Amino acid sequence: MENIKSYVQQHKDRFINELIELLKIPSVSADTAYSQDVIDTAEAVKESLSKAGCDYVETCDTPGYPIIYGEKIIDPNLPTVLVYGHYDVQPPDPLELWTSPPFEPVIKTTDIHPEGAIFARGACDDKGQMYMHVKALELMVQSNTLPCNVKFMIEGEEEVGSASLAWFVERNQEKLKNDVILISDTGMISNQQPSITTGLRGLSYVEVEVTGPNRDLHSGLYGGAVANPINILAKMIASLHDENNHITIPGFYDKVEELSAEERAEMAKAPFSLEKYKNALNIEDVYGEKGYVTNERNSIRPTLDVNGIWGGYTGEGAKTVIASKAFAKISMRLVPNQEWEEITELFTKHFTSIAPAGVTVKVTPHHGGQGYVTPIDSIGYQAANKAYTETFGVPAIPVRSGGSIPIVALFEKELKSKTILMGFGLDSDAIHSPNEHFGIFNYLKGIETIPLFYKYFVELSK
Ligand code: BES
Ligand code: MN
Ligand code: MN
Repeated sequence: MENIKSYVQQHKDRFINELIELLKIPSVSADTAYSQDVIDTAEAVKESLSKAGCDYVETCDTPGYPIIYGEKIIDPNLPTVLVYGHYDVQPPDPLELWTSPPFEPVIKTTDIHPEGAIFARGACDDKGQMYMHVKALELMVQSNTLPCNVKFMIEGEEEVGSASLAWFVERNQEKLKNDVILISDTGMISNQQPSITTGLRGLSYVEVEVTGPNRDLHSGLYGGAVANPINILAKMIASLHDENNHITIPGFYDKVEELSAEERAEMAKAPFSLEKYKNALNIEDVYGEKGYVTNERNSIRPTLDVNGIWGGYTGEGAKTVIASKAFAKISMRLVPNQEWEEITELFTKHFTSIAPAGVTVKVTPHHGGQGYVTPIDSIGYQAANKAYTETFGVPAIPVRSGGSIPIVALFEKELKSKTILMGFGLDSDAIHSPNEHFGIFNYLKGIETIPLFYKYFVELSK
């Protein structure tokens, strides 16, 4: 532990500068304008893995962006840790809300990060957290303390649904064989209270299109006499929740697992301040499903949210028009046991059925994935908990997260191993938002904690 700490202290400036270089490449997977940058980032990751000490690295071509594979096999009889992460990032917009440009990383202090945080798109999600693993490997190789085999699989399409990774995993079961999968792409409660994510929500993401008249119309000449697709879409969307904020799609809750009173009481023990939560978001009150508290609403309950809605005239000034079409992008966060394909079908059937005469509705599924829950009595969980306990001085608390990493359920199905979600980000790090950042404290703590996971995982596996 002292050796780990001193290595990190000695090399921290370089660790930070290397991450900053990686963050300068705008690897936005959703926008083809950045495709060369995404590919360049893959190569940079590959190089970093070789430099850190992998004996073998490979750019694996896929139907989409490449997957970077790396390994260091020290003894086939020892356990193997498979590290997963992603080098792609979310689009940076709206640009005008960034206090410094998203791909020109700078270190600034915040109330929560008095020792500084790196501001850049991808700083926390997931370049910073992924790179902690690369540096942890370097540390273990340099100090001759790598206690087992390690494989890396770093993809470039996580933010757009991981289609190529699913393709890759199905075709490379032997290559990816492992005893545990280790991911840092989630968060923890606070810098004083580490937590281990034991659940992720699933996802069904759809786009809807409502079409009325065959062309845009004068809203005076036709207003009141034909269905306005934007009015109708707004009404249809509003009807998807009832007065208790339950989702109204028939069958939506059929497979939802209800937690026992004991499990809910256990969850309620995690430190949480509703006042701080409201203050951080500048809202007067929270809002959500009746019968559940905030920490349940955003983790063990399924949701439906509009992510974007558009149509008609949105330019400067006013234009009197009834648009021919209106659109929305809608995500449903799902909990374990809900099948995402089935939910997509239920949504499609219901949404089409509630359209009034005078409009037609088209629903296009985008992507989806299953939720995930993992037990806390596994060797992997215990190793992670011991590692956090040592570096933070307090044990980690198990927490079910509201976010999704759909590929995790597929890992379990195809590779038959458990995933340990060792996150070091904070909710306030603004992932997917303007001014995303990652605390220097968090980055360095991650690099310190990861080698201890390896150590305890191997010890407990004996
Ligand atoms: N790293 C996030 C997921 C996450 C963040 C989980 C924090 C738990 C805590 C990941 O990159 C992500 O953004 N996932 C997407 C889903 C994907 C299919 C686009 C999400 O959750 O919206
Ligand atoms: Mn991520
Ligand atoms: Mn993300």
